Amino acid sequence: MNGADLPRVTTTLPGPSSRGWVDRLAARECPAITARRARRAAQIGAADTDPIVWAEAIGANVMDADGNVFVDLTAGFGVCAVGHRNPRVVAAVHGQVETLIHAMGDAFPDPRRIELMEALAARTGMDRVILGTSGSDTIDAAVKTAVVATGRSRILAFDGGYHGLAFGPLASLGYLRSMMRAPFAGLLGTHVEWAPYGGELPDLSGFAAVLVEPIQGRGGMRVPPAGWLARLHERARAAGALVIHDEVYSGCGRTGTFLATDLRPDLLCLGKALGGGFPVSACLGTAAAMDAWGASTGAAIHTQTFLGHPVGCAAALAALPEIDWMLADVVKRGEQLAESLRAVPGVTAVTGAGMMLGVHVADSLAVTKGLLDRGYLVLPCGEHAEALGLTPPYVLTEAQASGFVRALDEVLQCR
Ligand SMILES: Cc1ncc(COP(=O)(O)O)c(C=O)c1O
Repeated sequence: MNGADLPRVTTTLPGPSSRGWVDRLAARECPAITARRARRAAQIGAADTDPIVWAEAIGANVMDADGNVFVDLTAGFGVCAVGHRNPRVVAAVHGQVETLIHAMGDAFPDPRRIELMEALAARTGMDRVILGTSGSDTIDAAVKTAVVATGRSRILAFDGGYHGLAFGPLASLGYLRSMMRAPFAGLLGTHVEWAPYGGELPDLSGFAAVLVEPIQGRGGMRVPPAGWLARLHERARAAGALVIHDEVYSGCGRTGTFLATDLRPDLLCLGKALGGGFPVSACLGTAAAMDAWGASTGAAIHTQTFLGHPVGCAAALAALPEIDWMLADVVKRGEQLAESLRAVPGVTAVTGAGMMLGVHVADSLAVTKGLLDRGYLVLPCGEHAEALGLTPPYVLTEAQASGFVRALDEVLQCR
C-alpha cells in the first residue's frame, strides 16, 4: 500500500479481525458512541453495518485489520487533508517527541506554539490566537471572546449548522441532529437563536455574535447564495455583533483557498486538517475582539492543560506548507470530480466547493455501505443524510477519483 493504490477487498466486510475488535469495542465503549451501529443498521434495513477497524493508512489509502485496502474519500473527517501519514508531518512529529513532548500551556510556553501562532496570523490576517485541541474548543473560545468583547450574550446560529458536541457548541447546533441536543436541552441555555442558512436574516440588535460556517459541512456541503455572507457581515457590523466564521471543516485549503471566503470575520475557528492528523485547533481573532479579555491579572481565565501542545504545533507547522502547495490543484480537481459525478445516473445534485463535495443520492446510507464493499470510504452528510460527503485527502490520485466514480455508478445501477 503506497497511498495511491486502488482498493483491494478480499474478505466480506467487516472481515473476521475487524469483527473481533468491534465486539470488544461494543463491550467497553459507552453506547453514546458505539450504539450508532445498531441505529444505522435499523435505518437501512441491513443486518450488518459494523465498521471496519483501521490498522494503517498512508496517502489516500487505509488498510483495515484484515489487510483490505480502501480509498479514503473522507480524509478521516477531513483531518488528513495532506494525506495520511504525510512524510513531512511524520518527520516533524518524530523530531518534536525527541526533544519536548509537553510544555506548560499558559504557564510556560515553548517555541513551536509561538511559531504556529505566527504562521496562522500570516496566513489569515488575524491578530491573536487561542490554541486548542478540538474544533469544539475553538467554538468555546470564540463564543466566550464575543461575550467578553460585546458585553452581550445572545448568539445567532443557523439551521443545519454543526459546531461540535461539547456544551458550548452543542447549544449552537442548528436544527441538524436535534437528537444530539434533546437530552441536555435544560442545560443549554436560551442564548442561541437560529435562522435559515442562506435565507432571511433577522435583526441582530442585542446579539453578541453570529456563528456561521461559510460552507456547511456536516449539514450537507451547503454553499449559501452569492452575497448572503457579505450581507450577514454588514448586518452584524451595523448591530455591533461580532462575526464568527467556523472554518473547522471548510478551512485549511479544503475549498481551494486557505479559507473558504475572503470576508474577514472578527473570530475564525480552524481545526481538523490543521494538524495534519494531530489534534490541534485554533481560534483566531482581531486585536479589537481578543484584546477585550484585558491584561492578565494572574491565573488565566481561559486555558487548558494541553493548550498549544508542542507535538500538535510541530505537526501543524509541517502541515501548513504542505497545504499551501497542495491547494493549488484543489479547485480544478474538485471540479473535475464534481463534473464526473454529475454525469452518474442517480446523482441528483453535487453541492459544495473544491474538495468538499456533497453527492446527493437516494438511500445514501445503503449507498455508503455499497461503496465500502467496493473499497471506497465516504460519510453520509446532511440533515436527513441526503448526500454522500466527500472530503478526500488532497493527494487523491486521478485513478482513485475515477475508480470511485465508477464504483458509485455500479452501486447506483444495482439498486
Ligand atoms: C464546522 C465544524 N465545526 C466544529 C466541529 C467540531 O470539531 P470537533 O469534533 O473537533 O470538536 C466540526 C466537526 O465536525 C465541524 O464540522
